[in-house]
Amino acid sequence: MIDIVKKRQDFYYRKAKSEGYRSRASYKLLQIQERYRIVQKGDIVVDLGAAPGGWLQVIRQLNATAIAVDLQQIAPLEGVTSIRADMTATDVVVERIQEIVGQVNVVVSDAAPNLSGVWSLDHARSIDLASSALKIASGVLKTGGNFVVKVFQGDLFDAFTREVSTHFGFVKSYNPQASRKQSAEIYIVAKRYLDTSGT
Ligand SMILES: C[S@@+](CC[C@H](N)C(=O)[O-])C[C@H]1O[C@@H](n2cnc3c(N)ncnc32)[C@H](O)[C@@H]1O
Repeated sequence: MIDIVKKRQDFYYRKAKSEGYRSRASYKLLQIQERYRIVQKGDIVVDLGAAPGGWLQVIRQLNATAIAVDLQQIAPLEGVTSIRADMTATDVVVERIQEIVGQVNVVVSDAAPNLSGVWSLDHARSIDLASSALKIASGVLKTGGNFVVKVFQGDLFDAFTREVSTHFGFVKSYNPQASRKQSAEIYIVAKRYLDTSGT
C-alpha cells in the first residue's frame, strides 16, 4: 500500500519536473479547475500562499492574470504581480490588492502553516490561515466571484465551511487526486460570492 502511495507521489513529482511546473501542487489546481471551472479567461486571480508558483503557472495558462501573496519571494512570472506579505495581516493585504487592481474575480489559497506534527495545532493554524483567506476574499472579490481554500481536516472544519457558506451561493469540499493520500488537506470550493455588505 505504501509503495502504491509512493508511486503516485513520484508520479506527480516527476510529471511536474517533466512538464516544467514549479511544484507538484499545480496538478491539484488543474484537477479543481477541471471539475469546478473556477477560473475563466481574462480573470484577475489572487493566489494566497503562492510560492514557489505552481498554481500561478496554471492560472497564466488559463489566460488569467494574478496577484500573488506569500511570505517567501516568488521568482518573476509574466502577468503576475507579487506581494511579499503575511496574509494574516488581512487589512494590509486587502489594501495592497485594491491599490493594484481594485476588485478581482477569484481568490485561491493553498497556504499551509509550518507543520508541528501536533494534529490539533496544525489544524487550528490551517483554519486560522483559511479564515484570513476568507477575510481577504470578502474584501476584494466582485459579486459572483469564486474562492478556493485549503484546510487541514479536524473539528473546526464544519464550522468554517458553514462560515464560507454564508458568503457564497455554492460550496463543496473536494479532495483532488494529486493530494498525497496520507495528507489531511482538503479544498473548499466556493462559487458565486454574495455581496452581503449591505445586509
Ligand atoms: C504548499 S505551499 C503553496 C504552493 C503553491 N500553491 C504552488 O503551487 O507552488 C504553501 C505556501 O504558504 C505560504 N504561507 C504560509 N503561511 C503564510 C502566511 N501567513 N502568509 C503568506 N504566505 C504564507 C508558505 O510560505 C508557502 O509558500
